[in-house]
Amino acid sequence: MAETRQRFSQRTAWDLHPSDFSTALSEARTAGRDLIDLTISNPTRCGFEYDTTAIFAPLACEEIQRQALVYDPDPRGLRSAREAVMLYYADHAATVQSNSIFLTTSTSEAYSWVFRLICDAGDEVLVAQPSYPLFDFLAALDDVVLKPYPLFYDYGWWIDFAELERQIGPRTRAILIVHPNNPTGHWTHRAEREKLGTLCALHGLVLIVDEVFLDFPISSANNESPAESFATGPHPVLTFVLSGISKVCALPQMKVAWVAVFGPESRASEAEARLEVIADTFLSMNAPAQLSLPVWLANRSKMQQQIRVRIEENLQALLSLGVEVLKMEAGWSAVVRFRALKSAAASLLDADVIVHPGDFYGISDPRLIVLSLITPTTLFELGVSKLSICKEI
Ligand SMILES: Cc1ncc(COP(=O)(O)O)c(C=O)c1O
Repeated sequence: MAETRQRFSQRTAWDLHPSDFSTALSEARTAGRDLIDLTISNPTRCGFEYDTTAIFAPLACEEIQRQALVYDPDPRGLRSAREAVMLYYADHAATVQSNSIFLTTSTSEAYSWVFRLICDAGDEVLVAQPSYPLFDFLAALDDVVLKPYPLFYDYGWWIDFAELERQIGPRTRAILIVHPNNPTGHWTHRAEREKLGTLCALHGLVLIVDEVFLDFPISSANNESPAESFATGPHPVLTFVLSGISKVCALPQMKVAWVAVFGPESRASEAEARLEVIADTFLSMNAPAQLSLPVWLANRSKMQQQIRVRIEENLQALLSLGVEVLKMEAGWSAVVRFRALKSAAASLLDADVIVHPGDFYGISDPRLIVLSLITPTTLFELGVSKLSICKEI
C-alpha cells in the first residue's frame, strides 16, 4: 500500500525522451564524426583570455580571507557586493539603492524568487516567443504557467502588442522581457518600453526584465540608446531587473547574479521586505564570491571588449557568406534563415556542423537555426564555410 504513495510530483513529469535532433547528434558523436560545434555559449570554453591574477586577487588578500572565514550572512547579500552592483548601474546612468538589490547564485535563482514572490500556483507570466528555453523549467518548478506572446520578424524583431494584450487574463501577474532578447537579439526600444509600462499599469501587472546581455550591443545595429537599462526608469509599475556575472563578466562558474527592485515606493518596499524573507530562507550566497564581486565587476570591461570583438568578427564572417542573418541588435546569438522547408539544423548536422534548431528556442519555422557568435573564430569560420555549401538546402 505504502508504495503507491511513492510518486513524483506532476511538476517534474517531463518528457525526458531526446528530440529527433538530439538523437541524431548523439549518434553522430558516438560514430566519432568530426563535428564543428557552432553552439558553444559557455564563455570559459571559447578561448578568451581571463586575467587569472585579477580574478583571484581578492582571495589572495589577507583581509578578505579573514572576512571570508566569518559567517555573517546578510539576506540581501553583503553590503560591499551590493554596492558594487550599484556602481554597475551608475555606469549605466541608473540610480539603484543598495537595499533594493538582492544577490542570488544565478539569474535562474533570481527568477525563482521573483516568481515565488508574485505568483500563487497556477498564476501566469507572459513571456516572449522566441525566448530562452530554460524559462519553461523555471516556471514549472515554481508552479507558474508561462503564456507566450509572439515576437514577429519584419526587417527586425517586434513585440506583437495586440497578441500580448490578448494573452492577459485574470491570472496574469507579470510580463517578462529579456532585454536584449536571447536568441533574437531584439532590443526593447523606448517606445516599446513605454507601451509595456502602460499595459502593466492598466492591467495591474509586474514587469520582470532580464538584462544579462545588456552590455553586448552590436555596434553596427544603430541602437537608439545603446545599453540603456530598464533600471534607468521611469518605473510606473513594480519592476524587477535581473542580471548577473555569467554574461556581464563572462564568469558563469562564480555563481553571482542579482535582482534589483524598482517601482512606486510603497509597492517596492513591500516587495523588498517579502523578498528579504525568501532570501533569508535560503541564504544561498557564499562569502568568497561576494567579497570578490567588486573586483570582478570592476574588471568586466576587458572581458566584455574581447567578447564584443569576437561577436563582431563572427557576425561579419556570417554576413559575408550571403546567407540570411536576421537583424540582431545585441547578444551572443545569431538567427539564420535557410530556404529549405526541411529542418536546416538536421541538414547541417549531415554536413558535420552543429547548430541549434530554432525550435529549441520556440521558433516553429524549421528553416531557422541559431548560432553562438562567441564560438572561437577559427572554428566559426570553418563551420560557416559549410553553411555556405548548404545554403541552397
Ligand atoms: C536570457 C538569459 N537569462 C539568464 C541566463 C542565465 O544566467 P545565469 O547563469 O545567471 O543563471 C541565460 C543564459 O544563457 C540567458 O540566456
